[in-house]
Amino acid sequence: MPALVTGASGHIGSNLVKQLLDQGEKVRALIRKSSNTACLPDHKNLEIVYGDVYDRPSLVAAVTGMPFVYHTAAVYSLSRKNPGQILETAMQGTRNILEAVKVAGGVKRVVYTSSVAAVGMTDDPTRPLDESNWTADSDPDEYTRAKLESEKLAHSLAREFGIDLVAVNPALVLGALDLKPTPSNKVVLDFLQGKVPAYLETGFSAVSVEDVASGHILAMQKGRSGERYILSGENVKLVDFFEILGKISGKKPPGIKLPRPLAIGMAAMFEFAAGITKSEPLATVQAMKSITNRYGFYSFARAGKELSYKPRPLDQTLRSTVEWFEKNPLT
Ligand SMILES: NC(=O)c1ccc[n+]([C@@H]2O[C@H](COP(=O)([O-])OP(=O)(O)OC[C@H]3O[C@@H](n4cnc5c(N)ncnc54)[C@H](OP(=O)(O)O)[C@@H]3O)[C@@H](O)[C@H]2O)c1
Repeated sequence: MPALVTGASGHIGSNLVKQLLDQGEKVRALIRKSSNTACLPDHKNLEIVYGDVYDRPSLVAAVTGMPFVYHTAAVYSLSRKNPGQILETAMQGTRNILEAVKVAGGVKRVVYTSSVAAVGMTDDPTRPLDESNWTADSDPDEYTRAKLESEKLAHSLAREFGIDLVAVNPALVLGALDLKPTPSNKVVLDFLQGKVPAYLETGFSAVSVEDVASGHILAMQKGRSGERYILSGENVKLVDFFEILGKISGKKPPGIKLPRPLAIGMAAMFEFAAGITKSEPLATVQAMKSITNRYGFYSFARAGKELSYKPRPLDQTLRSTVEWFEKNPLT
């Protein structure tokens, strides 16, 4: 049964394409003319089609004849260079792909890639969040807002159009086949390149991209229509994350913890300097406020129970991520 994967040139998309092909499926990969295809294999069961989530006719053509649709395409960036672009692409892309599914007909299910950014962060590291949580920050960054609002739009359009849609909410995705790199893999890359002088009191859930790709396929096969499934891994404080990464890579973890007021003060200086030099700030006040003393800790119990989703241990995820960046150095 063939499947369409949008965002197939991306980190999650290319891993998903690889797993589908490995399982003997036929795949149609939607990419842009400008996309880097280095992570897509040359395979007899892989068809490449060109399109853009802003270009609805290209999506209708891509969806036609495809019973299964994985919609991963979105702008995953924390950059503030093009204000509005992350949100607009998420909202337009969601509307256009679901309208295309409605127009084309014949689609049995859409698996929609959301994020734990739409689930939120907790002040209490002993109480991980689950699918009943929705981000409630009063002033979220653009990416968080984009994931929150676009996932809500996806569920509501699916109900309106009568589309069988299952959302998946990956946590911090790490691992191979990432050429940009994504902001998630950049945490590892920055550490390996010695660019992390200090750490903050925060934490997140890190997960292997291979587990996230298989979580997408399991959601297609077994997910309940209209539901969302968190695809997370081990919850880990940042200090412990760097400690494990240090042991694996042989690099020294940062020894200085930045207290929240200092982190916010430094971010304000970075923003001021970036305003003068017209460059990207190293950190923003908004980001420091939203992550310091808060935790992106989640439970994947629902995906475990209903999808048989079983992420690998963090140590394994980090080992293969380090190996990938050692073999494929990015600057
Ligand atoms: N990585 C994570 O930690 C993480 C965690 C949770 C959720 N997610 C979500 O997972 C999805 C995939 O992200 P990723 O990590 O794989 O990021 P990525 O590597 O940056 O991939 C994004 C993909 O979307 C495509 N895309 C962007 N704008 C497009 C447009 N206008 N038309 C068509 N395609 C477009 C990109 O194409 P080009 O190659 O041409 O740029 C690329 O293939 C996103 O929805 C992201 O929000 C990611």
